[in-house]
Amino acid sequence: MPSLEGKIRYAVVGGGWISQAAFMPGVGQTSNSLMTAIVTGDRQKGEELAKRYGLEVYGYDEYEAMLASGKVDAAYVATPNFRHREFAEPALKAGIHVLLEKPMEASVEDAEAIAAAAKASGAKLMIAYRLHCEPGTIAMVEAVRKGEIGKPRYFTSTFSQTVKASNHRATSGYWAGPVPDMGTYPINAVRNLFEAEPIAVMAFASKTERDLGCEDTVSVMLKFTEGRQASFTLSYSSESVDQFHLVGTEGAMSASPAFGFGEGTAITYEITKGGETTTHEAPVVDQFAGETEYFSACILEGRDPEPDGEEGLLDMRVLAAIERAIETGEVQTLEPRSRSRRIGPDQTRELPLATSPDLVGIELPME
Ligand SMILES: NC(=O)c1ccc[n+]([C@@H]2O[C@H](COP(=O)([O-])OP(=O)(O)OC[C@H]3O[C@@H](n4cnc5c(N)ncnc54)[C@H](OP(=O)(O)O)[C@@H]3O)[C@@H](O)[C@H]2O)c1
Repeated sequence: MPSLEGKIRYAVVGGGWISQAAFMPGVGQTSNSLMTAIVTGDRQKGEELAKRYGLEVYGYDEYEAMLASGKVDAAYVATPNFRHREFAEPALKAGIHVLLEKPMEASVEDAEAIAAAAKASGAKLMIAYRLHCEPGTIAMVEAVRKGEIGKPRYFTSTFSQTVKASNHRATSGYWAGPVPDMGTYPINAVRNLFEAEPIAVMAFASKTERDLGCEDTVSVMLKFTEGRQASFTLSYSSESVDQFHLVGTEGAMSASPAFGFGEGTAITYEITKGGETTTHEAPVVDQFAGETEYFSACILEGRDPEPDGEEGLLDMRVLAAIERAIETGEVQTLEPRSRSRRIGPDQTRELPLATSPDLVGIELPME
């Protein structure tokens, strides 16, 4: 039962950077969503955010009570990757819908348990792939589908930033590191641009002189059927770069920024064919508002969201194969798989970007 205004009522789980800077302001841009609760380990921060947004504050030890309160329809889970199942699974079991931050979890087993909980209860699970509702990304998928670059042959991407050594991303091993955190973007992009699942994986990883608690710079190669290939490099210890090229038999597509969000960030792309370049302009939108508006509409209209547990798990199995490739130094083959759904233009949402609020009681994850 949504609120009296017919809006889906969200609890925010984890009051970190992405919750405070993006999700919470984004909700105010939607027509069908509102927030009623925050779940946090920091009561003082929770009280300040509660005052700003009109929320009830719960500690992590009060989570079950929050789920049973009758005041929440959905949970937005934005804790560190290794604390996703802990909150997503009980919510789904209690019939509370879950918008779950990417990547799904820190192991395939935990991610499968989350997907199974959604299947068993019928509560809806959406992985927060904000780009699946972003107009520039959807236009790129559509352009490739229409054959604008001929047959796609290869994809290459670089995605890097300097992450603070103190953030959980840099202190908790592979599953908090650059591959699950940032590599999920090029993996998800190329799977959707090729409309195919990889069949083999190779990777090299390095620990630079920063000596973080994970290998901080990683290069990955993916093999697909029909002679298609992808490669990408990710880093927690480099200048911020965010781009990809997709080259086909009759043209090349490139986007930079390709995966980012926020002020001034539009996912505009170029297609070059026979020496001529055309630019496809995309608007700056509130990607968090867009994904939330889409998820709430799915809940209200009884539809299953496209970026579902299957989509999240297809990325998770690639992340796990990359980990094995790094550990063994050997090529990892993957079972042939197909995806039952793909991104569609009906997912596009163009909501104006919210004003960035002051952040309360947190340190930014990146330098
Ligand atoms: N979709 C996107 O564009 C995007 C962007 C960034 C991050 N993310 C995802 O969102 C999730 C959160 O990332 P973030 O950047 O918001 O991280 P963050 O700023 O470090 O915040 C994480 C929050 O989780 C809570 N938390 C609970 N247990 C924790 C623990 N053991 N260690 C550290 N924090 C803990 C804390 O909130 P309380 O103090 O309130 O308990 C903390 O502030 C990750 O899964 C990440 O991959 C997605």
